[in-house]
Amino acid sequence: MGQSVAKMTKQITQADVKPVTVPDFLIAKSQGRKLTVATAYDFPSAKIMDEAGLDCILVGDSLGMVVQGKPDPLSVTLKQMIYHAEMVARATTRSLVVVDLPFMTYQESAQQALRNSGKVLKKTGAHAVKLEGGRRMSETIKAITNADIPVMGHVGLTPQSVRRIGGFKMQRNENEILQDALAVEEAGAFAIVLECIPPDIAQKISNALKIPTIGIGAGPNCDGQVLVGHDLLGLTTGFHPRFSKKYADIADIIRSAIASYCTEVRTGKFPGPEHTFK
Ligand code: KIV
Repeated sequence: MGQSVAKMTKQITQADVKPVTVPDFLIAKSQGRKLTVATAYDFPSAKIMDEAGLDCILVGDSLGMVVQGKPDPLSVTLKQMIYHAEMVARATTRSLVVVDLPFMTYQESAQQALRNSGKVLKKTGAHAVKLEGGRRMSETIKAITNADIPVMGHVGLTPQSVRRIGGFKMQRNENEILQDALAVEEAGAFAIVLECIPPDIAQKISNALKIPTIGIGAGPNCDGQVLVGHDLLGLTTGFHPRFSKKYADIADIIRSAIASYCTEVRTGKFPGPEHTFK
């Protein structure tokens, strides 16, 4: 006798939950398969994104802006990153979880970076850390990867450098960005974020590197894309960056749900008999 569709579907779904690993990133690039990455900072969002088939969830220090409402990520602490990353890692069964090392938790020395990367992996169950910077971070990336902690690099616009750069500005110096990206790969990173750089430079870097490039504001020719989850879901209500796309308007859904709730409470419609114990 054949199995029911529901039973077969269940089996397929369970078999499909094969966790994405660090080596899978390189395999994806070699097979020309684009990688999908978005940020999340809490259990329910991470669970839904994981179920939806995202390859990688980044617990970004953008949480300083989109969760804490600050103008930049500089004040985010390691303790806060660990708090959020633990929830995200606990929620996921498939997506690779990468955690940003926040400002001044890795810039001091390779030893400081190694110690804090170890803390992140041990306390959260995440799979990798991300840090910003190119050539000047070479020794740091080497120290972390030598301890078998996978590192995702990040060059181009690096938000933790916002004071030096003078704002969140597009980066256009091709030679500098290419040298930085090559140094990150050479140091042992398994992937690299290219943020806010012209698409032709992103394409040259993607062609030059063996590791996958994950673009944000870097055009279509990267090996994958990353967006801030709150932006792509329409949960951020202020400034919306031009490079980001809103795939839903969750803010509007929340606004209208809360308005309906307020009306029903005020008019005595809620709670009805079906919500009241006998
Ligand atoms: O912190 C973050 O969300 C990031 C992405 C924008 C790449 O670094």
